[in-house]
Amino acid sequence: MTCLAPTGLHRMAPNNVLPDAVAIIVLVEPLLKFRLASGDLLFKGTGALQHACPTDSTAPRIAHTSWTRNQDALPGFCTDRLLGNLMSLPATNDQNAEQIAYWNGPGGRRWLDLQHRQDALLAPISRILLDRAAPRAGEIVLDIGCGCGATSIALALRVVPYGHVLGIDVSAPMLERARQRRPQGLPVEFALADATVYGFAPGQADLLCSRFGVMFFADPARSFSNMRRGLRSGARIVFACWREPRENPWLLLPLQEAYRHVPRLPEVGPEDPGPFSFASERRVRGLLEQAGFGAIKFEAFDLSLDLADGLGLEAAVDTALGIGPASRALDDQPPALRAAAAESIRAALARHQIGDTVPLPGALWVVSATNA
Ligand SMILES: C[S@@+](CC[C@H](N)C(=O)[O-])C[C@H]1O[C@@H](n2cnc3c(N)ncnc32)[C@H](O)[C@@H]1O
Repeated sequence: MTCLAPTGLHRMAPNNVLPDAVAIIVLVEPLLKFRLASGDLLFKGTGALQHACPTDSTAPRIAHTSWTRNQDALPGFCTDRLLGNLMSLPATNDQNAEQIAYWNGPGGRRWLDLQHRQDALLAPISRILLDRAAPRAGEIVLDIGCGCGATSIALALRVVPYGHVLGIDVSAPMLERARQRRPQGLPVEFALADATVYGFAPGQADLLCSRFGVMFFADPARSFSNMRRGLRSGARIVFACWREPRENPWLLLPLQEAYRHVPRLPEVGPEDPGPFSFASERRVRGLLEQAGFGAIKFEAFDLSLDLADGLGLEAAVDTALGIGPASRALDDQPPALRAAAAESIRAALARHQIGDTVPLPGALWVVSATNA
């Protein structure tokens, strides 16, 4: 079992033994730190780090033994949910290793660099998602592949005061940004975890949402089955995913311009993990049916996405260079080639410029379903 965990864990437990709840608090996320700041002891128990990780590793190997819940700590509803989190320190599916490395490496770095621009660009999609998901006060919501937390925060604002949002993501740097942005007191927590294998508290959540966070699983049937375990009967899922590349010039045009100067990316199959892996309605419908979802609905949206966010051509060029497949193609390329690619991208985007905006077509599905 490979696990991701906060760095420094091994320094907290040099003998590979978790001595008491304090060690657990360090282990499992600020959620518990916060809850326990009051002095409440949520859990009693013992556990062991089965394999000490090398001191330079950020991915310790972890296993638990027995945990018991402290019945007096908090009302049952809340501790039940926490127990779900606690019992499932974030293991990962080895098949997702490449994506996990990417989102903790160059992919995550680029999203951080352009987080404001990304959120502005994708804001219309958040509005559609929230509209279709219709989160209600008091609901428990899962935000899968929550990245820097924009949608988790928006969802939490809808479920206050008694609801709760759990954002799940494999990217430590993106989650760090999400935690920094979280308004104080908002009922939203973030877990560094792989949604394919994360031990969701069974049957708790009312709603699962995702803005482009579910297309990167190596085995999506398994991932959706696992996520379904966290949903109560009748719960809704709503997620956004891109349609075919040719319908998304906002991503394809910069890539084509980059290819004039740099080698092509390795060929990926239409179902390989990546931004377009859920382009086929037929495939996604099959995956959801297989995982046990019903009332599956696909809505196609054709949007005009402003790469410049109203800030002019240079801003659009920055966006084009910083996100999507063009940014991958330009990774590690010599400065001269990058500059030449940027020039081609600039010229191509200039043809779409209207004032300080550079709108390009983007096509997506918003998929809704119910936990049957
Ligand atoms: C395109 S980004 C979208 C981020 C965010 N939802 C947004 O719209 O700003 C995809 C996200 O999915 C996350 N991700 C990829 N594989 C994952 C997995 N197996 N479990 C959880 N998150 C995953 C990535 O780390 C990344 O943050």
